[in-house]
Amino acid sequence: MASESLQDLYVEQLRDLYSAEQQILKALPKMIGKSRHAELKKALQEHERLTEKQVDRLDTIFNELGEKATGHKCKGMEGLLEEGDEVLKEFEDRDVLDAAIIASAQRVEHYEISGYGTARTFASMLGFDRHADLLQETLKEEGEADHLLTGLAERVINIDAMRAD
Ligand SMILES: [Fe+2]
Ligand SMILES: [Fe+2]
Repeated sequence: MASESLQDLYVEQLRDLYSAEQQILKALPKMIGKSRHAELKKALQEHERLTEKQVDRLDTIFNELGEKATGHKCKGMEGLLEEGDEVLKEFEDRDVLDAAIIASAQRVEHYEISGYGTARTFASMLGFDRHADLLQETLKEEGEADHLLTGLAERVINIDAMRAD
């Protein structure tokens, strides 16, 4: 049945998101540690707290589905974070470091926004309305984080980076 395979794909997408969030949780402390602007530090710390809640939401969904969350590695997120780490190293001693952190963080947010949008739509189509609500909540948080970073970059951090050069 077609909907059965859509459900398999849904679970696969959820596992990908779960792995992505786990990798983000590992990467955030380093990004927070390297951030110089207090506002950026605060924004990333807040996102770390939210990411833990997002993992909890995925746990709830996996429990309801009776499926395992683990067993798949999100290679896309692995690549994004690896690249972010390289940029961080390259600009470590430079005044543009915070702008570089935001650039990497926003790539991560957009990747998550794409994944959660798809998963939410699958959940609705498959009749998992509660899942769709939980995924929508996370999607909203990722979008807000993205906007917050855009504002911070345009208002403060890119300007400081330009002045310093
Ligand atoms: Fe997230
Ligand atoms: Fe995020």
